[in-house]
Amino acid sequence: MRKFADPLPVLPVKKPWFKEDGKTYYHLTMNQFKQRLHSDLPDTTVWGYDGMYPGPTVKVHTNEQVYVKWNNCLPDTHLLPVDQTVHGAYPDVPEVRTVTHIHGACVRPESDGYPEAWFTKNFDRTGPYFTRKMYHYENCQQASTLWYHDHALGITRLNVYAGLAGFYLISDENEKALHLPEGEFDIPLLIQDRSFNADGSLYYPSQTDPPVPGLETSIVAMFFGDTILVNGKVWPYLEVEPRRYRLRLLNGSNSRFYMLFLDSGQQMFQIATDSGLRAVPAALKQMTLAPAERAEVIVDFTNMNGREIVLKNAAPAPYPDGPKPDQDTAAVMQFRVKKRITRIDTSRIPEVMNHIPPLSFKDVTRVRKLTLNSVTDQFGRDLMLLDNRTWDDPVTENPVAGTTEIWTFINVTMHTHPIHLHLVDFQILDRQPFDVSRFTEKKELRFTGSPRHPDTEEEGWKDTVRADPGEVTRIKARFGPFSGLYVWHCHILEHEDYEMMRPFYVLSSQTFL
Ligand code: C2O
Ligand code: CU
Ligand code: CU
Repeated sequence: MRKFADPLPVLPVKKPWFKEDGKTYYHLTMNQFKQRLHSDLPDTTVWGYDGMYPGPTVKVHTNEQVYVKWNNCLPDTHLLPVDQTVHGAYPDVPEVRTVTHIHGACVRPESDGYPEAWFTKNFDRTGPYFTRKMYHYENCQQASTLWYHDHALGITRLNVYAGLAGFYLISDENEKALHLPEGEFDIPLLIQDRSFNADGSLYYPSQTDPPVPGLETSIVAMFFGDTILVNGKVWPYLEVEPRRYRLRLLNGSNSRFYMLFLDSGQQMFQIATDSGLRAVPAALKQMTLAPAERAEVIVDFTNMNGREIVLKNAAPAPYPDGPKPDQDTAAVMQFRVKKRITRIDTSRIPEVMNHIPPLSFKDVTRVRKLTLNSVTDQFGRDLMLLDNRTWDDPVTENPVAGTTEIWTFINVTMHTHPIHLHLVDFQILDRQPFDVSRFTEKKELRFTGSPRHPDTEEEGWKDTVRADPGEVTRIKARFGPFSGLYVWHCHILEHEDYEMMRPFYVLSSQTFL
């Protein structure tokens, strides 16, 4: 496939179904259809929302009361190989199940898209937990780039790989007053990797390498596609004006990390992290994005007329010690500074954008130590666990609403795991190397170096954090405002689908009055 042969798709903004009494209603339908993902490729059968992969962009305002009916009109058989040995995907449940989660949204549990709250076509069958047909999003949070994606237990990796993902953008007054590039100069970019069969169909492995004897389909430890797509096109290009652009970068890949940079060597001015605007912009030449992480940047193409600039990737796969990307996976997309400037660029790179409270330990009520470890299952496959527990084990993390905790991730595995908590935003305190063998043998945590600050692109509010191997990563979160059942998990979807996900229960503070 040629690189930079197709224009970047502009994702349409979803129109509300209707508005009434200060409430906004949406209707989004999951379906199967064919879409051209590259001009050298035959049409590909994909899943999407409203006949589009990625799904349409939902744009809301802080505190807007939004109701969404997520509808499943997918076929009865899955597009991709389902592994029935994996939790929640046993032969006793329908093969095609969906439940939509808005990643980063602060919502009540019954609207969060709990992995077991799945439903089938036209709600014919529903999972065991709160199955609401209309989800309510209160959007009591600041301007941020969130995304919606499927979260059905045991098949999330397949549902997302088939195409079930889209943007959910929250705006607020503070953001509007900053004069950031807006409208057509504010572009969400969903970065994903995919592989294809010769007939254009999506390739997803049905077996590990070497295969597991006695199993027809098996979950793989990680999946890496050999092409990179942005907004559903393989290696697209975008014609830009010589001016500033706001790019909302989202890593929506199953397992692949990205280390993104522009081959012009120019800086990107990062203005936002996962969950909102930074305090001040940061000039960066390269930034790392694990699966589910977001970064918003301003890129200035002023005076670059005629230039062709490639957004490139330098991240090893698996991260951090795998091989470097090859020529193909090192290329993401191209910007062509071609267009005439249509109006004078009055946008700014602001000096101050947000107030981020300084980190203190005064309000911390509890510190949890959680191990990221791996064992081997009965088929000899790697099984990644959170604190050595599986999905079905009883809830062990039960913070009280309104209290602040430090969660300490002790990673004894060989890989970086992007850990995501539902409901809350957090700040990263630090990372510190420790003696892994001493810890695994004697359960004794002995540090071998001093703590490191979070990377520049991680300063601010986050909902996903990279827990690096051989290091202890600490985050600080205030739980609430809602209480009830949520999940935390690794966002490598192959891990999340195979036990690297745990429920957590936020206790209502009322109980303790
Ligand atoms: Cu992006 Cu639990 O999800
Ligand atoms: Cu989430
Ligand atoms: Cu993981």
